[in-house]
Amino acid sequence: DGELCLSRSLVNSSDKIIRKAGSSIFQHSVEGWKINSSLVLEIRKNILRFLDAERDVSVVKSSFKPGDVIHYVLDRRRTLNISQDLHSLLPEVSPMKNRRFKTCAVVGNSGILLDSACGKEIDSHNFVIRCNLAPVVEFAADVGTKSDFITMNPSVVQRAFGGFRNESDREKFVHRLSMLNDSVLWIPAFMVKGGEKHVEWVNALILKNKLKVRTAYPSLRLIHAVRGYWLTNKVPIKRPSTGLLMYTLATRFCDEIHLYGFWPFPKDLNGKAVKYHYYDDLKYRYFSNASPHRMPLEFKTLNVLHNRGALKLTTGKCI
Ligand code: CTP
Repeated sequence: DGELCLSRSLVNSSDKIIRKAGSSIFQHSVEGWKINSSLVLEIRKNILRFLDAERDVSVVKSSFKPGDVIHYVLDRRRTLNISQDLHSLLPEVSPMKNRRFKTCAVVGNSGILLDSACGKEIDSHNFVIRCNLAPVVEFAADVGTKSDFITMNPSVVQRAFGGFRNESDREKFVHRLSMLNDSVLWIPAFMVKGGEKHVEWVNALILKNKLKVRTAYPSLRLIHAVRGYWLTNKVPIKRPSTGLLMYTLATRFCDEIHLYGFWPFPKDLNGKAVKYHYYDDLKYRYFSNASPHRMPLEFKTLNVLHNRGALKLTTGKCI
């Protein structure tokens, strides 16, 4: 998670991308947008050839027993022990089993959300998916507060909760989770070595404080299957970002998917600066080789899908 500042060459390449952003491939209009239901069904069917989000969204209790040793998905040489705590938090059945929604919001974390006044619209969707435990209360007018499904990379413990070094960090975290009630907390625990302590601490806090969140841990095949789907569709991503993963999963459950907070560019179309995250000072890193993601390419793809009526991408104001 190296926080790279923009070097001169990165600035140049981002400017190039923004110049392109002014061109038609990045332009999309929300006025007159209409859902293309047959395309939505076709995409769902095609994705189902690679993964079934109902199943792959989480491993379940019967997948492992405590003490099992598994290989990390993106680092097969290293292993993880399935602890008693982790096993006790695995769901009995998929938390998304038989769940269907008319409209869903997938909320990315771009600073493009600031001053968007999209909060009410986001909260009006039947199911709201958010990423990386992003804070909402202080930004409610722009991002809303409803969270039915929220992801949490293990690195968030370090980045936003001080590595749980002191009691107040832990309290802040427990408070944040308690606000989620029984929504799904999705923790990619099996991707790479390095976050296992954080996952263990999170699990221990959930158990100790009897928090109601329903934990879920993505299946070992999910990320490869999602990558496979996009590669087959000629989108050569190294590793899908959380936002793209969430859109891909949501196609299984949602008839209409609305995306907010997707804008991986340091400027908007008028040249105004846009923060990487709406809530912190993390710098842009996806123009560097250090980033595993290809967010601008992902954005371009989502934009094409918007223009074809497969999803609705909002990057402007909601009123
Ligand atoms: N996103 C975006 N533009 C930004 C920031 C984020 O489009 N400026 C989208 C991406 O799809 C991203 C998602 O919002 O995956 C959630 O953002 P974030 O929490 O920043 O994800 P990252 O930590 O950057 O990446 P990941 O969790 O996917 O490793």
